[in-house]
Amino acid sequence: MVQQVAKESVGTKGNHKRTTIFTYTHTKRTDIEEDIRSLQLDSAEENNGVVNPGDARPEEVEVVDKMEEDSEEVQAVSQPVHPEPKVKHKEVSAVEDAESQQETEGNNKRHLNVVFIGHVDAGKSTTGGQILFLSGQVDDRTIQKYEKEAKDKSRESWYMAYIMDTNEEERIKGKTVEVGRAHFETETTRFTILDAPGHKSYVPNMISGASQADIGVLVISARKGEFETGFEKGGQTREHVMLAKTLGVTKLLLVVNKMDDHTVNWSKERYDEIESKMTPFLKASGYNVKKDVQFLPISGLMGLNMKTRVDKSLCPWWNGPCLFEALDRIEITPRDPNGPFRMPIIDKFKDMGTVVMGKVESGSVREGDSLLVMPNKAQVKVLAIYCDDNRVRHAGPGENLRIRLSGIEEEDILSGFVLSSVAKPVAAVTEFIAQLQILELLDNAIFTAGYKAVLHIHAVVEECEIVELLHQIDLKTKKPMKKKVLFVKNGAIVVCRIQVNNSICTEKFADFAQLGRFTLRTEGKTVAVGKVTELPTGYYVVDKDMECGYLFSILSLYHKTFTDGLLGEQPTWGIL
Ligand code: GTP
Ligand code: MG
Repeated sequence: MVQQVAKESVGTKGNHKRTTIFTYTHTKRTDIEEDIRSLQLDSAEENNGVVNPGDARPEEVEVVDKMEEDSEEVQAVSQPVHPEPKVKHKEVSAVEDAESQQETEGNNKRHLNVVFIGHVDAGKSTTGGQILFLSGQVDDRTIQKYEKEAKDKSRESWYMAYIMDTNEEERIKGKTVEVGRAHFETETTRFTILDAPGHKSYVPNMISGASQADIGVLVISARKGEFETGFEKGGQTREHVMLAKTLGVTKLLLVVNKMDDHTVNWSKERYDEIESKMTPFLKASGYNVKKDVQFLPISGLMGLNMKTRVDKSLCPWWNGPCLFEALDRIEITPRDPNGPFRMPIIDKFKDMGTVVMGKVESGSVREGDSLLVMPNKAQVKVLAIYCDDNRVRHAGPGENLRIRLSGIEEEDILSGFVLSSVAKPVAAVTEFIAQLQILELLDNAIFTAGYKAVLHIHAVVEECEIVELLHQIDLKTKKPMKKKVLFVKNGAIVVCRIQVNNSICTEKFADFAQLGRFTLRTEGKTVAVGKVTELPTGYYVVDKDMECGYLFSILSLYHKTFTDGLLGEQPTWGIL
């Protein structure tokens, strides 16, 4: 009995998303290929919605009675691995019937996506694997098998991580490459774990994982020297926190891991040191530490302070919750199930029709619905909806779904397209205005009109160019500066006009935060974070043949007061 772990990655060699990126940006293929290559290791084959713990939301996911399904579709449910997966979905083994039934029942619970982030080797996969073990989804026999396999590869201590790291390459190197996806439940909540890679070469995959998450578990190693390396400039602890905040992960559980290590030995001093160093940094990143962050000590390897509280004889000073309790208690802002439907497509494949995968960012979907695939404005019909491995009739915001569509071919869909309401389709634009926080430009370059970077916005990865700097924001007064701005440097906040070659789906941050926040990356480094503040003004017309509204963009016409009230109280770059 083993939990299924699906793997996914962005832009890795031979994989669909990489192909997609190139197709989507065909006019600048060479440039983007270079950019993307620099984001990857070539060797790699490779909100927010609250919901109180007790709130069951049966209306958001309606499970289809298994008896009602025809045999073909039942087969589709039990075979989630499609014949030629472009984004890899590795199944450790088939889930047994009894488990499927449990999951079906679990659909009445609230659902949260949790991304595990943090510096390389902090213990993300080990902790994720331990969660699956402790929640009864991996049996002792499998653990023994992994222990042997890990020993054969001279990676004895990695056996728990093998539950999440299912690729041979990941197991040999002891490093996660692709985001591992798995599910577990507590009494009140169904969780989807997204185990992100920590290595800096795989940041695009981490971005993809974090962009699907509601909450984050930031894993910090307490082992002597390891916390320091992760936290120093250039370490992934910093980059991941900043990216998580940018990508809409509003709540963080900061787990101080490896408390069992002999250099730590459940020391309160070490725990306090890490908490006191992380706190100002998290604040500077835009997190309200009191409200949005919770610290707790664990040992992912030993499974301590995870499902049950750590024994007082081991850690007498800890009076807080264990990890499962803390996860259970996290509250996030309720999403609107009645908003216009928006589901960014992260993957697609052929399976008795065209199946698209993604997380619902707004609204709800029901079997039989007519929707649009944007930006190519293709009208489609929803044939079936799958949530985890269950077919459901109806699903609400926050759910990770696979949706079978009619009316479109798989090859006409690219990742980053958005499945969208017909009446209020998502905006599709080649230009927008955004407020950017410049983080660290390569070689202290200056940021000016003509600057090119790779834009990551929900599932879109697209080359972009800054075509005009409109004005700089005064960091003290938080007001637009009067002086004309020609260039800015590290740390500046600037409002600018950005162009992309191909139409992309986006929204104003103020309307749909998840579709309006982005990062700019150059040569594998995140150089800026931003939010879309203005889109070209547009209007809807009804196309009588299709009975739907289209958004027609009129570039160059913008609402004027685009910077008013945009800055929050964040002291440094936490503009989102
Ligand atoms: P990447 O995916 O490469 O970013 O690493 P990761 O954060 O997933 O780390 P992983 O789980 O692969 O663990 C890295 C190493 O740390 C392995 O040797 C683990 O056994 C060890 N480790 C993880 N958690 C603990 C812990 O709680 N205690 C001790 N002592 N070692 C741990
Ligand atoms: Mg890992």
